[in-house]
Amino acid sequence: MSKPVSVLMVCLGNICRSPTAEGVLRELIKRRGLHSHIRVDSAGTSDWHVGEPPDPRTVSSASRRGYELSSLVGRQVSHGDFEEFDYILAMDKNNFLSLKNVCPPEYYSKLALLLEFGPGERLEVPDPYYSGAAGFELVLDLIEKSGEALLDSIVEKHGLKAS
Ligand code: 4NP
Repeated sequence: MSKPVSVLMVCLGNICRSPTAEGVLRELIKRRGLHSHIRVDSAGTSDWHVGEPPDPRTVSSASRRGYELSSLVGRQVSHGDFEEFDYILAMDKNNFLSLKNVCPPEYYSKLALLLEFGPGERLEVPDPYYSGAAGFELVLDLIEKSGEALLDSIVEKHGLKAS
């Protein structure tokens, strides 16, 4: 079997948006029977929360929708990620620029905003860290919808079949 398509979700702290994107995508991959074909991880552009679990507000809002995030551990994007992952998807434009600043030019084509895959007009997943509960619900809404659009795109581009 060929190597799985790999996706790295990236935000600032790797404790709110990108772990949510990792957990949601993993569940969507499982539901579609694509677990042997696509793998997903997440990381932060900063080192502020390395080694920490996701923010408790992230864990509880995700858990209410059936996503289990409590076992995830924060890490920072590393140089090797640019070679290793096929898709490196930033949650907002600031993080996209931080990635581009350290990404070797031959891998620029791997970088994108998650929300570029759709389905709406919005391009950024807003940082919920200083927001109330509604901010965490919005993160989940945006990631669930774009996660489906991302998987549609990967399945079509790589000709994947559920197993
Ligand atoms: P994230 O959110 O990038 O979605 O993980 C943040 C987490 C922590 C901080 C900012 C944003 N912080 O300032 O520590």
